[in-house]
Amino acid sequence: MVQQEIGLDWEEDFQRLTPSQFFRKNKQMLGFTGKIRSLTIVFHELITNSFDAAEESGILPDIDIELKRIDKEHYILRHKDNGPGIPEEYVMQVYCMMFAGSKFRNIQSRGQQGLGCSGCVLLSQMTTGKPARVISCYKDGDEIKGVKMKFQMDVENNRGILMEREDYECGETGVCIELQFKDVSYSLAEQGAFEYIRRTMIGNPHARITFRDPSGHKYIFKRAANIVPVQPKEVLPHPKGVSADDLMTMAKNTDSRRYKSMMTSSMSRMSNKRVDEIAAETGIDMNKRPKDMTFQEAEAIVHCFKKMKFMAPPTDGLIPIGSEQIEKGMKQILKPEFVTTITRKPVTYAGGVSFIIEAGLAYGGEAGRIVNEQRKSEIMRFANRVPLTFDAGSCAITEALKSIDWKRYGLKDLDNTPLTLFVNIISTQVPYLSTGKQSVSPEPEIVHEIRQATMKLARKLQKHLRAKKAAKEKEKRSKVFEEYVPVIIEEAAKLGETGVPEYQEVLAKVTKRALAELLGEKVDDDETEEEELDAIIMEEVDEHGRVVEDNNSSLDNFKEDEEEELDE
Ligand SMILES: Nc1ncnc2c1ncn2[C@@H]1O[C@H](COP(=O)(O)OP(=O)(O)OP(=O)(O)O)[C@@H](O)[C@H]1O
Ligand SMILES: [Mg+2]
Repeated sequence: MVQQEIGLDWEEDFQRLTPSQFFRKNKQMLGFTGKIRSLTIVFHELITNSFDAAEESGILPDIDIELKRIDKEHYILRHKDNGPGIPEEYVMQVYCMMFAGSKFRNIQSRGQQGLGCSGCVLLSQMTTGKPARVISCYKDGDEIKGVKMKFQMDVENNRGILMEREDYECGETGVCIELQFKDVSYSLAEQGAFEYIRRTMIGNPHARITFRDPSGHKYIFKRAANIVPVQPKEVLPHPKGVSADDLMTMAKNTDSRRYKSMMTSSMSRMSNKRVDEIAAETGIDMNKRPKDMTFQEAEAIVHCFKKMKFMAPPTDGLIPIGSEQIEKGMKQILKPEFVTTITRKPVTYAGGVSFIIEAGLAYGGEAGRIVNEQRKSEIMRFANRVPLTFDAGSCAITEALKSIDWKRYGLKDLDNTPLTLFVNIISTQVPYLSTGKQSVSPEPEIVHEIRQATMKLARKLQKHLRAKKAAKEKEKRSKVFEEYVPVIIEEAAKLGETGVPEYQEVLAKVTKRALAELLGEKVDDDETEEEELDAIIMEEVDEHGRVVEDNNSSLDNFKEDEEEELDE
């Protein structure tokens, strides 16, 4: 009998994995799980890249997507943008090298990890074995150069292998990529690619997307705003967010000649005075050369940061979408009866990373999602304008919204309310829970801000629904008037033994005017709408159209409102 060898054969068994090899084994970590989700993630990666690239160059994004079905669960995707393009020498690094990119700076962008589009090429190759085809048109001095390339990913070496290349004649800059995928599925479901585009447009009303779906139907998502978002600035790390290891890395890479100048030039809110305070506290000589910094010194300095008070980080690195733009996006896509939006002031989490929460609430019209022919409420989660479609359960946004007592805002059946809630977190460093970037870590400060923003919107919706219900009640009473007046006139005419006067026209005018005044606009006569409203809002309206206040739901008693006051 052959004796099996026990123990490790180091020569044979010890291996090194490239990032591409790692993700080939763990594609779920890039978000590629399930047929529908995998395709949505591909859309997500390519769209976010196109937006980032266009905005960095001050271009209003215009994207053309075509998805063709070749066979069951086998598609060919063509994605074209009008961004600045990619210089030829970088094309294969962009699409075939993992952890390579231009967004590892402390700057607000949709991309953060240098994984997105190489992940798409990897998935394409793993499922079809087909190469990627890219056309890139980019500026070279005053000239626009174009190149058409066909390449594969060399997974073992985390790089690309060029198969074909030719010059390409082009008039405008941009990138067009064509990839094939198998074992993926196009779906109109909430987590499908189409819904992803729809949500993208709400957070990016300055973009235009044309999408041809597998049935050949062409959708044009028009621009609702013509302004390229202001380009965020790169911000220096805040001392409260810096670790000893970060400080050592800064010391290694700095051009400064002293600890003191290194600290003031590499971190925000760090003045000479603060460095002197740290020197006094730690006894460290701040005139030493950064390359001599020891880990113990770094630890002592960071320990000191933790005890000190610093001004909050500068916030010019954060550019929110803005209330007005969110409103435009929501109106364009959801055509709601009522919409309200809010952008909160910048604050920080984890001691020193600043973020902004903005939110929007749309009610009625096409707000909410249709389930079994009924409109239900929906939550749209976003981070740096990008829709987060998956892993909702663990996300800070879900946690915050779940913790709100909606009944206090008059919504007795939130699930069955035709309502869309939009929440976007803006940060130079969104604390994603995984490389798939689909959910945000529930940091207490983030959860708190989302709650505050949403409660303000909920209160405005409550006011709207109350006013609407009161108007409906008044309209009902006017109708009673309309029904009875003719009877009274006719009976009076009989009693007086006179003819019935011509009253219809005058009466119609009077009631119409009265109603228009009450409702502020055109009058409609929809009974079912009123019933639905009853099911949604909790307030009772008395015979004068006034809201009967329920003591338990009095807004003044809200714990949340007290929190808010403290907050402000
Ligand atoms: N359409 C494009 N136009 C111009 N440059 C692009 C385009 N797509 C990608 N790039 C460049 O390629 C880099 C790599 O993109 P990739 O999606 O892999 O990573 P990322 O966007 O930096 O981060 P993340 O993994 O979080 O998406 C980007 O940082 C950007 O510099
Ligand atoms: Mg990306």
